[in-house]
Amino acid sequence: MKIATGATALLTAASWNVAGLLVHTAPTATIDGGIVVGTTTRVPGATAVVNKFLGIPFAEAPLGTGRFSVPRPTSWTGSIDTKAFKPACMQAFRPIDDRDFIQDVFSIPRPEESEDCLYLNVFAPKKTWKKSLRKSRYPVLYWIYGGGFSFGNAGQPIYDGSHLAALEDVIVVSVNYRTNVFGFPIAPDITNLTERNLGLLDQRAGLTWVQRNIKVFGGDSKRVTIFGQSAGAYSVDVLLTAPWPNGPPFHAGIMESGTYSYNPLPNCNDTDFSSWTVLLNRLGCDNATSTFDCMKKTPASDIRYAQEKYNIGFGMAGDNVTIVCDPRLRREAGMFAHVPVIGGSAVQDGSYYAAKNGTDIDRYFNTIFPGEAALKEKILDAYKLDPSEGRFDNMSILTQIHTDWNFHCVGALSKVGDNE
Ligand SMILES: *[C@@H]1O[C@H](CO)[C@@H](O)[C@H](O)[C@H]1NC(C)=O
Ligand SMILES: *[C@@H]1O[C@H](CO)[C@@H](O)[C@H](O)[C@H]1NC(C)=O
Ligand SMILES: *[C@@H]1O[C@H](CO)[C@@H](O)[C@H](O)[C@H]1NC(C)=O
Ligand SMILES: *[C@@H]1O[C@H](CO)[C@@H](O)[C@H](O)[C@H]1NC(C)=O
Ligand SMILES: *[C@@H]1O[C@H](CO)[C@@H](O)[C@H](O)[C@H]1NC(C)=O
Ligand SMILES: *[C@@H]1O[C@H](CO)[C@@H](O)[C@H](O)[C@H]1NC(C)=O
Repeated sequence: MKIATGATALLTAASWNVAGLLVHTAPTATIDGGIVVGTTTRVPGATAVVNKFLGIPFAEAPLGTGRFSVPRPTSWTGSIDTKAFKPACMQAFRPIDDRDFIQDVFSIPRPEESEDCLYLNVFAPKKTWKKSLRKSRYPVLYWIYGGGFSFGNAGQPIYDGSHLAALEDVIVVSVNYRTNVFGFPIAPDITNLTERNLGLLDQRAGLTWVQRNIKVFGGDSKRVTIFGQSAGAYSVDVLLTAPWPNGPPFHAGIMESGTYSYNPLPNCNDTDFSSWTVLLNRLGCDNATSTFDCMKKTPASDIRYAQEKYNIGFGMAGDNVTIVCDPRLRREAGMFAHVPVIGGSAVQDGSYYAAKNGTDIDRYFNTIFPGEAALKEKILDAYKLDPSEGRFDNMSILTQIHTDWNFHCVGALSKVGDNE
């Protein structure tokens, strides 16, 4: 198990062309599923070359009868190209009236979508160290995207890990996971609650993949930091508060704009199938002999569209394995992964509100805090126009208010936990 990179090419005469210039050799890696062939990239201002392996399959494609099934290990013979991002998982942008807006903000450029989406990406600085220093390995950052468990895609340009890898001496791994009903089929036919949480199982399968394979890329499997934004941060918190009988497969966590512990909305009612029932009905599967088979045979694009058109949301099933039902109580009892955690919010994360609904401050309070005149006065007093604080117009004021109450305050609360 080793990586052959441009450095090895130095040894092969065939790698030199007639002009004596080094011919670019693609990096390859032998992982447990088979051989992957990546590409290299450079980042302005960085000396390190980054090896990119994009679209590595970490599970079998959940196609055909595999829809709604747990991620299973995959392997291939020969080598596969991992030079470009793979499709996003099926996304749902709800409600349909906001569909274009949400995509314009959170999904640029619009990716290809497929159920064949269980891939991850590795961005690894190419080792330039002397052999004697090779004992040290790179720490790993494992990225979990946001999107309200309804959409998201590790292949978005803003999630490209090349810069972090080139400038910060870390390996970045970003993982696709299933969302909406494809990731969270809360259906009576699935009696094992954990198997209703496919999106969480995908995230975990990626983490297990890292444990098994990251060494090949020069990574240290004992120093994996999980990080994510919004639903990704929520996922990090879900992983932090889940039980890990054999110890967690990570050593630190970073939550950007989102926590689970203080905004707990798991579906801990095992028999609430209302979303599934509505979806069955809208897709005309409700009278089928097997409604579940009917859902498995319905074209993915129809399922995607029905969720958008009828605004049907799917959450996760509280199973106390992949997501616990009582995170606050567990935290108070010290039952969570005892690892260092950073919690906070992404700058201006609340700006989407004003971008969508306009910059009229009165309208904001009338819709978000209706009938709360005293509260409005207090808030506006604390967020007065003040260019030195970045508040120079309605937009910046609303952005700060919305970021703080939606993301920052919740993030700050999550610091409390270690019996504080
Ligand atoms: C429930 O499903 C999970 C994930 O597939 C599996 O690990 C677990 O063993 C299952 N539990 C039972 C009781 O079958
Ligand atoms: C669970 O959901 C079902 C269906 O909506 C409802 O009838 C039942 O009362 C709920 N149970 C609890 C404990 O809330
Ligand atoms: C399902 O059966 C009900 C009752 O027989 C009927 O009203 C409804 O139209 C049927 N739905 C479909 C999609 O065939
Ligand atoms: C999960 O744990 C909570 C709190 O202990 C309990 O009320 C709930 O019944 C458990 N659910 C399952 C599916 O184990
Ligand atoms: C726009 O305002 C409405 C309330 O009037 C709110 O439900 C909606 O979430 C807002 N849109 C965004 C993108 O914040
Ligand atoms: C700013 O908010 C105030 C109070 O609602 C409103 O009167 C004014 O028109 C807004 N200005 C802009 C540019 O949105």
